[in-house]
Amino acid sequence: MSRILGLRCRECGRTYDQEPIHVCDYCFGPLEVEYDYDIVAKSTSRQAIASGPRSIFRYHAFLPLESTDVVDLGTGFTPFIHAQNLGHLLGLDHLYIKNDCVNPTYSFKDRPVAVAASKAREFQFDTLACASTGNLAGSVAAHAAKANLRAFVFIPNDLEQGKIVGAAIYKPYVITVEGNYDDVNRLSSEIADKYGWAFVNINIRPYYTEGSKTLGFEVAEQLGWQAPDHLIAPIGSGGLLCKAYKGLQEFARAGLIEAPKTHMYGAQPAGCSTVVRSLQENSNEVIPVKPHTVAKSLAMGNPADGYYALQIIRSTGGGGEEATDEEIIGGMRLLAETEGIFAETAGGVTIAALKKLAEQGAFKRHETVVALITGNGLKTQEAVTGQLDPVIPVRASLQDFEVQLATLPRSRPTSSSGGETWSTSASNSPTLQNLSRSR
Ligand SMILES: Cc1ncc(COP(=O)(O)O)c(C=O)c1O
Ligand SMILES: [Zn+2]
Repeated sequence: MSRILGLRCRECGRTYDQEPIHVCDYCFGPLEVEYDYDIVAKSTSRQAIASGPRSIFRYHAFLPLESTDVVDLGTGFTPFIHAQNLGHLLGLDHLYIKNDCVNPTYSFKDRPVAVAASKAREFQFDTLACASTGNLAGSVAAHAAKANLRAFVFIPNDLEQGKIVGAAIYKPYVITVEGNYDDVNRLSSEIADKYGWAFVNINIRPYYTEGSKTLGFEVAEQLGWQAPDHLIAPIGSGGLLCKAYKGLQEFARAGLIEAPKTHMYGAQPAGCSTVVRSLQENSNEVIPVKPHTVAKSLAMGNPADGYYALQIIRSTGGGGEEATDEEIIGGMRLLAETEGIFAETAGGVTIAALKKLAEQGAFKRHETVVALITGNGLKTQEAVTGQLDPVIPVRASLQDFEVQLATLPRSRPTSSSGGETWSTSASNSPTLQNLSRSR
């Protein structure tokens, strides 16, 4: 008997065979993959995982794939970094950064897409497609190249160059749509219905989102087979937050870790903080908005899994925070300046929210806090261009260099010691400066 039982409606519980479908015929609820966890538990162990490939496929027993012939770019098993410098600033002894900037196409999206592309091949699709805010487009295009599939990627027409080039290089058809992500998504749903292509985040979404569980698995494994006390994730559709938590729960269900007591936190841009607003207003509804934010990868006004993310945050006693554009750029700089990690704007949102939550006393010093950093800053250079210290031009002469050197501070110019040399308003914000001074 297969460990994959099929699909089940999250709302009414109706079951379906494994097919490329995503909503329940009866109640329009979202479908989710269902497993026989007794079989899963029997087919895996800490030792088996630890000796498996250094990629998400070490967790194959938990993925909705029948075949081990997968579309593999080497995704996952990314660095898990003890962020001592940033932790020191925030008063946290056990702050960890899960650095998913270094996946094959430089974002965590390679996790769900590796699973979706493999499943699309099992279903014998010839075209892989997506509605994307940028990172997904690059990942779908790359996996389609590897799997020898045709690719169509649909994106809003205002994305960063790094996102467009980062997709186009793999030779998909890049379709830029007039409008925001929610418009792109609506059009893509119509196209998925009419043409029957494998839209990873539409008709094969139940399989696709399962790939994001591997972030939860890796965090637990890299923490020494335990769940963290607190986990903070950026929210676009909310899929990542839901599935990272599901990963922790499944590891416990398979007897690999103890039942997680993790508090889950969502980070959203202020220009589309749908879930965070519901938390603040103690509401059960996630009300759609028109997104406006520098963090284009998270610019979703009507998050598909927003409601479920809200439930998880509430039920785990977690929380959420939003970040303005200025705070997002401040967060990107803070992470880069303290930990040497150049994250994209979504990472800036996560770090800004982490900082606010730490200031509010959400975490105790000795507790384990993990921040998911999900995309690479080289793809969103526009966000910080012109805001960093200017370069220092010299002629090829030692004397010329020393003239310049004499004007510079003797020690590393962190935001605290060299505040006056930092040019953005973000790093001059009172909270960031106060925090940095306490270093
Ligand atoms: C870098 C990055 N982080 C986080 C997210 C949010 O993921 P989700 O839509 O699953 O909430 C996205 C979505 O595109 C993203 O590109
Ligand atoms: Zn249903």
